[in-house]
Amino acid sequence: MDNYSLDDIFIRDFDRKTQEIAVETEDLRVFYGDNEAIHGVSLPFERYKITSLIGASGSGKSTFLRSINRMNDNIDGTRVTGKIMYRDVDINSDNVDIYEMRKHIGMVFQRPNPFAKSIYDNITFAPKRFGEHDKQKLDEMVETSLKQAALWDQVKDDLHQSGLSLSGGQAQRLCIARAIAMQPDILLLDEPASALDPISTSTVEETLMTLKDQYTIIIVTHNMQQAARISDYTAFFYSGKALEYDETRKIFTRPKIKATEDYVSGHFG
Ligand SMILES: Nc1ncnc2c1ncn2[C@@H]1O[C@H](COP(=O)(O)OP(=O)(O)O)[C@@H](O)[C@H]1O
Ligand SMILES: [Mg+2]
Repeated sequence: MDNYSLDDIFIRDFDRKTQEIAVETEDLRVFYGDNEAIHGVSLPFERYKITSLIGASGSGKSTFLRSINRMNDNIDGTRVTGKIMYRDVDINSDNVDIYEMRKHIGMVFQRPNPFAKSIYDNITFAPKRFGEHDKQKLDEMVETSLKQAALWDQVKDDLHQSGLSLSGGQAQRLCIARAIAMQPDILLLDEPASALDPISTSTVEETLMTLKDQYTIIIVTHNMQQAARISDYTAFFYSGKALEYDETRKIFTRPKIKATEDYVSGHFG
């Protein structure tokens, strides 16, 4: 593999007058014990856009994504420094209520992981924990989130069937519905289609493209066609750094950094 100068970084300028940023990291670093896995990443995420995080396996995409809603806090010996600015609050600070914050920043994982409960209960689980017990409101939440996740028509006649009885693509859309039940601002997805067949993958992609009307989406993908198809912006991760961040079409047609060019043209990874 080529050696690249990691000092060579291109982060696209943001026009703060016209572009609204939903969440932004500033010099984010993640340490697993003594090992620094993320080396000072500063990236903006524009509201109502899809941003893809691409890069070879081990480049730090998942670690970075998980940091945004503090999922790394659950891993022993992990330390995260730097800022994560969300609505003028640094949500990486100690006094942030993590469960409250996760109402605003939801997450969907690589493998569909519905709870061993009914479809209805999967979606109402978090709202109930946050004190919503009005049956009519819960019914509405279930319908709205299943519709937004493009699953309603397929399951509306039997909302009490187990979430575990769904196919892979449906189960992942149930997980998306569950993640949006609380109407978060931001949706984080870590390779949400990597365990799915091509048809389920395209239904999940279509779902994401409609969701961006209402949510800011940050998605890790190792599938470059997927990044090119669905995302507005792309950040290329290499060795724990965001080496390049730009509009997706620029990343794929005229990247500024050699490592990005090599990666998107399939030379490594
Ligand atoms: N829980 C963990 N404990 C220790 N090291 C980890 C852990 N998770 C990831 N790493 C390390 O951090 C680096 C980045 O990994 P990861 O974020 O999973 O990359 P990617 O998602 O791009 O494949 C790798 O060197 C990986 O071995
Ligand atoms: Mg990963």
